[in-house]
Amino acid sequence: MAEPSWSEGYVVDIDYTRGYFRELSPAQLRFVTLLGGVDASQAAPYTYYELGCGNGYSTALHAAANLQGRFCGVDFNPTHIHNARKLAQDAGIGNVRFLEKSFAELLQTDLEDADFITLHGVWSWIGGEHRQQVLEFIRRRLKPGGIVYLSYNCLPGLAQVAPLQRLLFEHANLGAGDRIEKVRRSMEFAARLLKAEARFFTANPLATARLADMARHDPHYLAHEYHNANWSPSYHADVARELSGAKLAYAGSAALVDNFEQFVLKPEMAKIVGGIPDRALAETVKDFARNQVFRKDVFTRGAPKAAPPQLDATLAGTRFTLIRPRSSCRLQAPTPIGEVTLETEAYAPVLDTLARAPMTFVELSRAPECAGLDRARLRQALFGMSALGNILPALPAEGADARRESTDRFNTAVLNAPTTGAMDTYLASPVLGAGVAVNLIDRIFLGATKGEGEAIARAHAAIATGGLKLRKAGQVLESDADIEAHIQDRAQFFFSEFLPFLRLLGAAR
Ligand SMILES: C[S@@+](CC[C@H](N)C(=O)[O-])C[C@H]1O[C@@H](n2cnc3c(N)ncnc32)[C@H](O)[C@@H]1O
Repeated sequence: MAEPSWSEGYVVDIDYTRGYFRELSPAQLRFVTLLGGVDASQAAPYTYYELGCGNGYSTALHAAANLQGRFCGVDFNPTHIHNARKLAQDAGIGNVRFLEKSFAELLQTDLEDADFITLHGVWSWIGGEHRQQVLEFIRRRLKPGGIVYLSYNCLPGLAQVAPLQRLLFEHANLGAGDRIEKVRRSMEFAARLLKAEARFFTANPLATARLADMARHDPHYLAHEYHNANWSPSYHADVARELSGAKLAYAGSAALVDNFEQFVLKPEMAKIVGGIPDRALAETVKDFARNQVFRKDVFTRGAPKAAPPQLDATLAGTRFTLIRPRSSCRLQAPTPIGEVTLETEAYAPVLDTLARAPMTFVELSRAPECAGLDRARLRQALFGMSALGNILPALPAEGADARRESTDRFNTAVLNAPTTGAMDTYLASPVLGAGVAVNLIDRIFLGATKGEGEAIARAHAAIATGGLKLRKAGQVLESDADIEAHIQDRAQFFFSEFLPFLRLLGAAR
């Protein structure tokens, strides 16, 4: 089947996965600007656009959890917009709308100016003309002080993979059958070349590894990732240069760990990067240091560097929350330079305090558990633990009840919808203003109203009907004893740790 004329080379014969991306949440984006020492727009109500929003899950969830924002998701695929509107309607979200428009059409539409413009998984998969339309939209619509999030496939990490994408794309164009079939056949074809010892694969081991890794992905994802006419990984320096044309400057990375050189660069490399006065080149060299394949950049428009007292004042009022159960928080974690270990003595008391309730920096500094930490150490602890994925800034306590009503509606709608395979479900948290992942067995437990016995019986029933497969170390559990032990363990964890954590985040009653 030929692609319809509106597709502009983008895959439209298969809809995209219903992913959720916390990095797009307003609170996390503001935190990146704070880490970058920038005074970005904090006004409320604010206007937020997600361009190429796919099925709209992130936009809808963020709208449900952030009532001070007016959210708008844009995508030219009518199936995506239909799915997004249905979710918004089922969840009764009043502060979101979804526009079925191409980026070209968006430029012809009268819209309000933006505080946030985000694009996740779009920039590298559209042609140069469409990137220019996005840039023009940003140039025209983003307010001074506004924030842009732009993720993209990057170089040099994907240099070896680009020819593999071209091979898959060209092969898919030849074949008949539906898109899933084309995905399967194009991968099989590449695997035959590998087996026949095509020198491309021996000379480019990262392409070989990428091909092997594809097997574990959903074909919907693979189609959108590899079957587009456009697939252009970029150097950060080029992206920064293009965005500077729209008066934007790089503020930091929404992959929080990347903002902390001590976690991503070895000392010798940090010295080299530290000696580079140009920010765009320094970031690009960091990508060489790590052979980076994907970036999650945050830019601001005209936002000035803030003076330290101003940043301190913003930090003092910022509330923080755990983003994993206390017992799952890590003070040791793998980073691009290997395993890092945070100082347990300084950091564990902060986690213990936050396990009681979300707290502002000032409240934490007064908590008895944190008495041994001066402000500099507390700040270091909070930043370090956000980098390792234990905590994040929360929304202010004011307005939490209204947000809770809205997120409860969202979560009910999501939990009432059929499950999509083994994928995690993302519930909205009125505390975080963002989503929290719930895996399939925990989702089944959540449906139990009469405690652990009923939860366990529900898990067994789901296994019996094939709706739940339990895995350990990647292997599906088959024996009754293994299944029973796994369910018992997980139920124990769910009721003692995970459910209290969901309650802390306001994501469960
Ligand atoms: C890889 S998907 C990413 C979707 C979503 N942001 C996510 O990460 O789940 C890219 C999206 O951009 C949309 N898109 C591509 N070209 C577009 C254009 N010219 N105008 C509007 N949307 C476009 C596609 O329909 C698709 O939903």
